[in-house]
This record gives sequence, structure tokens and C-alpha cells, in this order.
Amino acid sequence: MRATIPEGLDRKEAEVYARLDPKRLPKHIAIIMDGNGRWAKSRHMPRITGHRAGVKAVRSTVETAARVGIEALTLYAFSAENWKRRPKGEVDFLMRLLRKYLKDEVPTLNRNNIRLKYIGRRHELPLEVQERMAWAAEETSENDGMVLTLALNYGARTEMVDAFKSILENAMSNGGVEHLEITEELIDKNLYTRHVGDPDLVIRTSGEMRLSNFLLWQSAYAEIYVTPTLWPDFRGRHLLESVFEYQKRERRYGGLIEPPSGLH
Ligand code: FPP
Repeated sequence: MRATIPEGLDRKEAEVYARLDPKRLPKHIAIIMDGNGRWAKSRHMPRITGHRAGVKAVRSTVETAARVGIEALTLYAFSAENWKRRPKGEVDFLMRLLRKYLKDEVPTLNRNNIRLKYIGRRHELPLEVQERMAWAAEETSENDGMVLTLALNYGARTEMVDAFKSILENAMSNGGVEHLEITEELIDKNLYTRHVGDPDLVIRTSGEMRLSNFLLWQSAYAEIYVTPTLWPDFRGRHLLESVFEYQKRERRYGGLIEPPSGLH
């Protein structure tokens, strides 16, 4: 049985949506947005043009995800390693773009009942970016629809380091490590993603078959979908196509039909 098409989808999105089982949507989708530079290069334009075009892809993807009822969307916007590899001018541009995005997008996020959160070492970002981030999160904090999490200055290994540190610090301020029992649940609770949990589907654009230090612990049982589409060309309908592929796969969780407890 097919449910009615959600409001606001364009014709192409509606066509893909009609092929989906609305009862088996992934709850949490995470995306490695890649290919902005290649998109620009193929047009003989500077890399920053690709990032600017990438914002349109973010907008379309976020709105479509919210419209169809995805509960959580996590976007890998800026990896901790990005600082080292990119020229300063490009990093500065990305920071300005992020500030502008946050300012411009709050009304759209509120209209779509989206709550904004972040993962990553935000204290290492420029102060004015941190302030804008705090503002946008506060402005959307009353929304109870989709949770949009931006991974900014994020790296999965630094996340684990921070989680282990916080477990240790909590134990030390609560009587020491003698009775500390390390469990998967305890680690989950100390990861940046404690507000959102594990992704069911991880999408990577532009064809690379790597996780690139993104949600390594949390992706243990995720379906991974790699599309050759470059991020600036990605739109809501591509998101729905990835959901269609996700639904075609049988999720077995390493032999179990149901996910092990705590891992979903
Ligand atoms: C990867 O492309 C993309 C990024 C490093 C940045 C992603 C940023 C945006 C989509 C725009 C701003 C984000 C938000 C949330 C407003 P790349 O430059 O690594 O591409 P390449 O691999 O082709 O060089």
C-alpha cells in the first residue's frame, strides 16, 4: 500500500517517493558531502564556486528529508582534517559560507520544524562562527521535527578520544575508576551523537568508497550508499533514490534480523 505523497515535493521527488515504502524509511541518514571541488573544476571555475553551489544541495536535501519524515539527518560539512589540506583562503570562505548559511536558513528550518545540532570540536572554530552556531541552534531549539546535525570540525577518532576522556573525567569526579564498567551504551552516551544515535543509511557523493573518519563507531551496522553524483548536483530526489536502494537491501545485522540492542 502506498501512502499519499507528502506536501511540497516536486514532480521528480514525488515520482521516486511513490516507489518507496513509507513505513520502512531510514530513521537517521548521514551524508558525506563530497565533490564540490571537482564540480567547480569541471566548469573551469574556482573551488569556492563549488562550495557555494553545495549550499543549494544542502537546502534541497534538508527540506526533502524533513518533508518525507526522516527523523534525523547528519551532514559532514567540515572534517577536522580539512584545516590541514585546504588553502587558508578556501577555509576562510567555507567559514563565511557557513555563517551566511546559518543566518539565511533559520526561517526555513523553523518553517519545516527542524532542530539544528552540531557534532565536532566546535571550540576550535573561529569565535564568530561559534556564536552564529549557538544562535541558530537556540533559534530552532523549540522545534520537534527532524534533527539536522552538522558535523563541523568533526573527526570520528577525535570524537572517540573525547568520549573516553569524558568517561574518565566523570568517573574521577564520581569516586574514581575502581567501579567503572565500560559498556557500549556508556560509550554511546559519551559520543557527540548522543542526541541522535546511529545512522541507518550513510550516503557518500562523488563516487569515493571511503568513510573518511565519519561516524566510524556509529556506522557499524549502517547501509552504505555511494553515488557518482557530485555534491552540488545532489537534490532531494537523489536522497529519495538512495532511500529506494536502502529499501531494496535486506538488513541482516551480521546474521541477526533485529539490530542488537543499543545499536539502532
Ligand atoms: C567536499 O568537497 C565538501 C566540503 C569540504 C564542504 C562541504 C560544504 C558545503 C556543502 C557548503 C557549506 C556547508 C553548509 C552546511 C552550509 P571537496 O571540496 O572536498 O570536493 P573535491 O573532493 O571534489 O575536491
